[in-house]
Amino acid sequence: MSSQDTLESALGDLERLESEGLAALGAADSPEAVEAARIEYLGQKSGRLKAAQERLRTLEPSGKRAYGQRFNGVKQALEAALEEARTRLERRAVAADALDVTLPGSRPRLGHRHPLTQTADELIDLFGRFGFSVARGPEVEDTRHNFDALNIPPVHPARDPLDNFYLSESTMLRSQTSTVQIRVMEAQPPPVRVIAIGRVYRPDTVDATHSFMFHQVEGLMVDRGVTMADLKTVLRLFARSYLGQDVKIRFRPSFFPFTEPSVEVDMLWHGGDRWVEMGGAGMVDPNVLRAVGYDPEEVTGFAFGLGIERLCMRRHGIDDIRLLYQGDVRFLEQF
Ligand code: PHE
Repeated sequence: MSSQDTLESALGDLERLESEGLAALGAADSPEAVEAARIEYLGQKSGRLKAAQERLRTLEPSGKRAYGQRFNGVKQALEAALEEARTRLERRAVAADALDVTLPGSRPRLGHRHPLTQTADELIDLFGRFGFSVARGPEVEDTRHNFDALNIPPVHPARDPLDNFYLSESTMLRSQTSTVQIRVMEAQPPPVRVIAIGRVYRPDTVDATHSFMFHQVEGLMVDRGVTMADLKTVLRLFARSYLGQDVKIRFRPSFFPFTEPSVEVDMLWHGGDRWVEMGGAGMVDPNVLRAVGYDPEEVTGFAFGLGIERLCMRRHGIDDIRLLYQGDVRFLEQF
């Protein structure tokens, strides 16, 4: 075998080594495959590149230079391909950890509105259809809005410190949403048609139908020629819409300092053998109209204040008001 042939065949082997090595490293698509290709081609002990390097010794001196140069080129190419294969796999591993927007998402567990909030929203909706808009007032009130302007004189028993949460001589947690009647009328001339929904506070002993805090919906309508018939119509329509066509309500004569005449409104409780008060109502007392600068000779009005908890309880068959405040998901989930 001439030395020329040997160099040629050695260069040919180098060529094959390079193309096969590049193909193997380029196709390796797992860390194991990359490692196997590394050992086969670049392995220090018995890799094919190592063997090709040793072949240098068997060549004629005249061919060593050419072979050596080509060998270095192949070595660099294979080392670069190994590096390339490793980065490629690393990038893929990072990408696998990253957000894949095509995967189905994990659904957050959605809650829903508290039954009292649902009731409040329904009241807003229902009374909205009767033409009532929504007004708001503060829970920390002054005694003028809670009492004086509502025609409750300074010595009236409703002001008893045992029946109210006073914060100071002249401020308190409001005991009724009737305060908002005053705030609305002070802020605008008649006609008025509003409801106000919110918390009220009274130091009542907690039992199945009482709490020291509860919610009321207050209604106020003032215009020319408003009568008691309008009040009864609105309340009956409301009760039927919210509690059902067959609901029974009754009006009992009563007394509130800020309405004249006054009534209490009862609804027949679940099972139909017990009347439960749902609130008070009446024709706005002329003194109240005068206190806010309205002319009782020009306009008349009605007002009502209903307990939202009891409406909610009657509607859903809940028999204990305390359930509404305990935040027990097993209870709340049912609504
Ligand atoms: N504010 C009264 C209460 O809380 C209810 C009421 C409102 C009565 C409006 C008459 C008119 O008991």
